[in-house]
Amino acid sequence: MFILILGAPGSGKGTQGRILAERLGLPKITTGDILRAAMKAGTPLGMQAKKFYDAGKLVPDSVVLGMIKDELARPEAKDGAVLDGFPRTAAQAELVDKTLAERMQRLNHILLLDVTEEELVKRLRARAATEGRSDDTPEAVAERLRVYQMDTAPLIAHYTTRGIVHRVPGIGTVDQIAEEIKRIIGR
Ligand code: AP5
Ligand code: MG
Repeated sequence: MFILILGAPGSGKGTQGRILAERLGLPKITTGDILRAAMKAGTPLGMQAKKFYDAGKLVPDSVVLGMIKDELARPEAKDGAVLDGFPRTAAQAELVDKTLAERMQRLNHILLLDVTEEELVKRLRARAATEGRSDDTPEAVAERLRVYQMDTAPLIAHYTTRGIVHRVPGIGTVDQIAEEIKRIIGR
């Protein structure tokens, strides 16, 4: 089963994705984590990504499409995965749809974490103070929110026509939201 967790920056994709992947015994593929690790290690991918990442902009599709292809091709993701942070653009959605279709698979569920902008900013501000992620500066957060609305939110309409989008109220405790996701997925 392939499940995509979709939502604005700070909506809880990482938090809920981790719980869900663990429960279902599926790998979680998180493009943001892969990019952060690549930047930390100073690999060519990390070096290409850094200036976009730090500014809160999307790393261009020309850089990430290959990475997404490789991740989906990993043996662990043969029968399913929880996708956190991609697809994020129309071109990425097309790649994911096509790659899975070639394997006679598809995205089964899309969980859309619905959180108010006020709460998103509050969470990211709190995280900036504790973790110091380089894209949690006020300027980069504002840009990430803008980019989400412009490039990623349109994917909701794309997938809604297939009837696989579930809107999940993303405010409440982590456990409450995880319970709601369990109810939606049925396990
Ligand atoms: P990415 O790493 O995906 O970041 P994001 O989408 O901005 O989202 P976050 O990871 O900040 O938040 P989240 O939704 O995972 O929430 P979390 O669980 O952490 O992407 C970062 C950058 O990488 C992009 O800007 C881009 O540059 C690049 N990138 C990544 N993927 C790409 C792609 N496919 N194409 C191109 N570029 C790409 O929760 C947030 C905080 O809230 C945490 O502190 C958490 O503890 C807290 N929290 C969680 N749940 C709750 C709750 N219920 N109540 C209170 N607090 C909560
Ligand atoms: Mg995340």
